Amino acid sequence: MNTGLVETLQERFHELYGVTDNKVFFAPGRVNLIGEHTDYNGGHVFPCALSVGTYGMISPRNDDKIRMYSVNLPDSGVIDLSLQELCPRRTHKWSQYPEGVFWSLIQKGFSFAHGADLMFAGDVPAGSGLSSSASIEVLTCLMIREVYGFSTLGNVDLALTGQNAENEYCGMQCGIMDQFASAMGKAEHAIYLNTETLEYTLVPIHLGEYELLITNSNVKHSLVSSAYNDRRRECAEALSDLQKVPALAGTGHLCELTGEQFEKYQHAITDPVNRIRAKHAVYENERTIKAVQALQNDDLTAFGRLMNESHISLRDDYEVSCEEIDFLVAETLKMEGVAGSRITGGGFGGCTVSIVRKDQAQKIISAVGENYLNQFGKEAGFYRVMPEDGAHVIFI
Ligand code: GLA
Repeated sequence: MNTGLVETLQERFHELYGVTDNKVFFAPGRVNLIGEHTDYNGGHVFPCALSVGTYGMISPRNDDKIRMYSVNLPDSGVIDLSLQELCPRRTHKWSQYPEGVFWSLIQKGFSFAHGADLMFAGDVPAGSGLSSSASIEVLTCLMIREVYGFSTLGNVDLALTGQNAENEYCGMQCGIMDQFASAMGKAEHAIYLNTETLEYTLVPIHLGEYELLITNSNVKHSLVSSAYNDRRRECAEALSDLQKVPALAGTGHLCELTGEQFEKYQHAITDPVNRIRAKHAVYENERTIKAVQALQNDDLTAFGRLMNESHISLRDDYEVSCEEIDFLVAETLKMEGVAGSRITGGGFGGCTVSIVRKDQAQKIISAVGENYLNQFGKEAGFYRVMPEDGAHVIFI
């Protein structure tokens, strides 16, 4: 737990809202080990929750106002609106995420008898692609469940509500992976999730002499959501072309196809760009299935190789990488003791994830960090991480 941040949160909550409380809520960010851009194509993903995330506090009000404040963005002040004012795309400020969760629950038929004061404090590096927005959404839903007594909401519902908020209220057509990892994560495990059925297995992450290393390029691309929505549309168009093939008429998602089927029918996808997008989705799903099997057989070499292949596909076929990220992956792979390295998350900047030997980690961090600084004139961030628990309540 980030004790300093939680103390600041409690102090500010008291100062601003006049309430003292020993109950603080937390929802983590996530890193995805493999299975990228498969979650809106009905495929498999393999993320885990992190120790960084968003902390929050909530207190009920007597009127119908919602007030929201972020410790990270004091200049935005207190955002204040009534429950009736909630409306998709009302704002592009950070408060769109918690607002979207209230709105989503209202759409689902939950009734709010009163408003609430909410406060947030996060330690996910901003714009890093480690899912700070999903953590805010899941956290908001967890806090609402507690204060309004919406006990029918299970943890999977926290994730689905967060995704719905992001899709419908904020207009980002994301899949379920980030919110699912934040709501359902477990320490020392990654979640092997079938995004079509939401069936999942918690797979122990015992890497022996190896560990997970996240490298932040500190590149924040501003066009993420429009480029992301473009990818989604390209996949949908590819699917619709494939469905015109009689043998594939009943296909519901790209990831239902095997690589073999893709090779046989890919000519049906008329647009060459859509074709390479679909190729990525199909093979990335196959890689994810193989990677989890490899991990379960303690074969880190095979797992790492699949990570490397995933990166190449995201770089060349899905085209969601960038120069800085490709440099970080290439530099990391030059080092001794690296099993695999790839871009993680939505892309267009953000982070890489690598599996590195524990006894080499510091050396890798120094060398890659220095080369990155020389090449791009900016610092990379490095985080040696372990999978942590998903959303929960903390009693201080
Ligand atoms: C973003 C989205 C996820 C997923 C990843 C790519 O993080 O929010 O749903 O699609 O990109 O794997």
